[in-house]
Amino acid sequence: MFLHLTPRPRRPKRSRPMSHTLAAEKPEHADAIERVLDRAFGPGRFAKTSERVRERGAALQPALSRVALDDEGEVIGICRIWRVEAGAPLYFLGPLAVDPAAQAAGLGLVLVQDAVAACRAVGASGIALVGAERFFRPAGFTIVPAGRVTLPGPVDPNRLLWQELRPGAFDKVRGELRAPRR
Ligand SMILES: CC(C)(COP(=O)(O)OP(=O)(O)OC[C@H]1O[C@@H](n2cnc3c(N)ncnc32)[C@H](O)[C@@H]1OP(=O)(O)O)[C@@H](O)C(=O)NCCC(=O)NCCS
Repeated sequence: MFLHLTPRPRRPKRSRPMSHTLAAEKPEHADAIERVLDRAFGPGRFAKTSERVRERGAALQPALSRVALDDEGEVIGICRIWRVEAGAPLYFLGPLAVDPAAQAAGLGLVLVQDAVAACRAVGASGIALVGAERFFRPAGFTIVPAGRVTLPGPVDPNRLLWQELRPGAFDKVRGELRAPRR
């Protein structure tokens, strides 16, 4: 029998960059942010250990968090920043999410870079997060030395990342990421 196979069209590696604006998070973005998070993460969204840090009293920093807005002002991406401490004050990044329709166009990295710049501008000591080192490395993150920082739940140590924003600022950072004392 003669089998004819039609070759699949090759997908481009990256989609066309989407036109977007970055802005600090505002209360009116809240519903749209929830929709982007639901679409990007799906039902497993609240099961993550990072969520335990946030729900245990980490303080959301809207002025340092970033949303990406499309031409019509719709939220298509979010990168949140929280104030936490682990022996000393630091920030915690996440969730980071880009609407599936806008992914693979560079937006995720741009959101992270802008949130990091905002933290640097206010003199932050540094930022920790849970995520893929391959993705976050270009924004300056590296793997936390083994055992130095813990979370209230299981985390793959290769996905626990940080970035010091002032030399020596992480010298006293160690232990569990928890709610800031003040
Ligand atoms: C992760 C996410 C925010 C990236 O946003 P994005 O706008 O698509 O990212 P960018 O276009 O800036 O970067 C895409 C690159 O990141 C890589 N990447 C995307 N998700 C990744 C992941 N989870 N692990 C490792 N690399 C990843 C892609 O392979 C691509 O690499 P390439 O440039 O070498 O091809 C987006 O895919 C998303 O919302 N995912 C679901 C939620 C999620 O997993 N958030 C991260 C939690 S830490």
